[in-house]
Amino acid sequence: MPEEGRNVGNIIDDQTRESKEAKQANSFLRRTLENPNLNQYWYSAYTIDVLVKEIEDNASKAAFLSTPSLYFSLNDKQLKDNSYVFDVDPQWQKHPNFVRWDFNDPVNIPECMWHAFDLVLIDPPFITPEVWSKYAEATILLLAPGGKIILSTVQERGELLKQLLKVEPQVFEPSIPKLVYQYTLFANYQSRHLSLHNPEIYQH
Ligand SMILES: C[S@@+](CC[C@H](N)C(=O)[O-])C[C@H]1O[C@@H](n2cnc3c(N)ncnc32)[C@H](O)[C@@H]1O
Repeated sequence: MPEEGRNVGNIIDDQTRESKEAKQANSFLRRTLENPNLNQYWYSAYTIDVLVKEIEDNASKAAFLSTPSLYFSLNDKQLKDNSYVFDVDPQWQKHPNFVRWDFNDPVNIPECMWHAFDLVLIDPPFITPEVWSKYAEATILLLAPGGKIILSTVQERGELLKQLLKVEPQVFEPSIPKLVYQYTLFANYQSRHLSLHNPEIYQH
């Protein structure tokens, strides 16, 4: 219900202002335009904040497959120095923790990185089973024994992803402002932050 003395229009204006302010506060979102040719859709600032908390609570060395907004928003310097962002976009190629990686050649990964990461984050540019199989191959190669996985895609990929990576859907749904359909987050462990509803998402 609208608060007393205010109408729905005011409340929507407030929410829009808040989300603009949150976006301004995130330096990755402020500086990095989405490139439609690479199917780049960034998570919202609030979704990034929640995922960063979850990552910082669970990882000492993480691999970010096609999830640059998360890597570049890390606050924990030691974790950031230990972690790597894997993506095809050359705009980050001068960054020491960037690995130029193309999912079409998924296991073309330096041997020193095999089974080296305790958390892998994934958000591919496509949702097809063929593309997911390639991301799963890379994930299995990167992950240390007992390692954790967080990924986002459409809910309908749940069965396939359970088979490939033993992940389960989470309560927290990501906000991806420019994407037309709602994604689901999946993880292979009991997550604290992802067990709560995301207030950015209309409850269906
Ligand atoms: C849907 S976006 C996911 C971004 C994520 N939501 C975030 O906020 O960081 C897809 C990502 O895949 C990357 N990408 C596109 N083509 C790729 C390829 N052939 N191999 C690896 N990554 C690719 C894009 O550059 C982009 O970072």
